[in-house]
Amino acid sequence: METSVRNWNLAVFRDAGAASEAAADVVATTVQRKSNPAISLPTGSTPLGMFDILSARVARSEIDFSDVDIFCLDEYVGVSLDDPTSLTRWLWDALLHRIGVKPEQVHALPSTAFDLSAAATAYDEAITARGGLDLAVLGLGPNGHIGYNEPGSEADSRTRVISLTPESVSQASSYWEGAVSIPDKAMTIGVGTLLESKRIVLLVTGGAKAEILRRALEEPMGADVPASWLRLAGSRLQVVADEEAASSLSKEVAG
Ligand code: GLP
Repeated sequence: METSVRNWNLAVFRDAGAASEAAADVVATTVQRKSNPAISLPTGSTPLGMFDILSARVARSEIDFSDVDIFCLDEYVGVSLDDPTSLTRWLWDALLHRIGVKPEQVHALPSTAFDLSAAATAYDEAITARGGLDLAVLGLGPNGHIGYNEPGSEADSRTRVISLTPESVSQASSYWEGAVSIPDKAMTIGVGTLLESKRIVLLVTGGAKAEILRRALEEPMGADVPASWLRLAGSRLQVVADEEAASSLSKEVAG
């Protein structure tokens, strides 16, 4: 368990643009230093700035994603790539096609499998067989979820199907202004699998996340706020926040 000495890292930046640059730097370093790295990237609105920065660096030939394996973080159950609500498709449209990633480099959650449980276990095993992800970049859900590890998710949870809270369904449906129906079940990489990553970046921006970030970083770790488990990763965890998201943190934590 966590010791009294904090050994995870927190960097607070002036604004979301600067935080996105810092997160993009970590992605670039991982991709440049390691041959055939395995990385996970979040969906949502938070990473869009980081995606633009990475796309610009690829256009300037500063980074090359051609030998990177992308392991998707989550997907709605029963949803395939051609569905407008697909998170894999969302990541493809928002980033992957812009950085020259080919479909065969993308490992999508097997969320349409006949045996979802066996397929989720196989997906998890494919990650652990590689010694864990080289890098997991995560966003922070308004209720403290990471990927789709909703409140109640334990530190040792593995890739599985999970029921989404009404709050998360409505958050997701707001991306489409309520025009599409969001399934109430998703498959997500588990917290335990994420904790085995060699490096974890939690990217959090905006004042709306200030209170949940405070809970994740300052309250005792627990399943009520799944992101709090990330502190178990110790020095492998880098929290990257802007000043607004960090505005509720105590001086002790924010430094
Ligand atoms: C979504 C995703 C998460 C994401 C989070 C925050 O539901 N499943 O991967 O990090 O919610 O989204 P946003 O960045 O839009 O606040």
